[in-house]
Amino acid sequence: MTTNRTFTMIKPDAVEAGNTGAIIKLIEEAGFRIVAMTKTQMTSERAGQFYEVHAERPFYNDLCAYMSSGAIVPMILEKDNAVADFRKLIGATNPANAEEGTIRKLYATSIEANAIHGSDSDENAQIEGSFFFSRTQQF
Ligand code: CMP
Repeated sequence: MTTNRTFTMIKPDAVEAGNTGAIIKLIEEAGFRIVAMTKTQMTSERAGQFYEVHAERPFYNDLCAYMSSGAIVPMILEKDNAVADFRKLIGATNPANAEEGTIRKLYATSIEANAIHGSDSDENAQIEGSFFFSRTQQF
């Protein structure tokens, strides 16, 4: 089922660099409606749960340490074709391969500290959104 919703979080590197507002502006200008938003910090254990799918990857431990190293800004977003359109807006995982004008090209510093996350499917958007927000926090 297509829900027209996706999940994102602005990552610690981008929050620490003071790019939260600029990134939210790009997201809204691209036509996404913010359904839910907060600012929080994950423990390493909680980051490990969020990225459990990558548990066997060599970068998993570093990723959990990095994702719990500072504040993040998780959001649920709404737009027609949200998952695919948002992944286009953020660009490739590795900023070296990201297209001009994408959020990662503009703000990511490395393949790990890549400024922002975007769900890769409707199913994961639902799971990841529920990780941070209850129904009553969604507007
Ligand atoms: P994200 O889209 O949030 O999904 C998984 C994250 O793991 C990814 O962004 C990066 O932050 C990180 N990641 C993916 N590939 C690598 C890699 N080869 N080396 C280090 N970190 C990676």
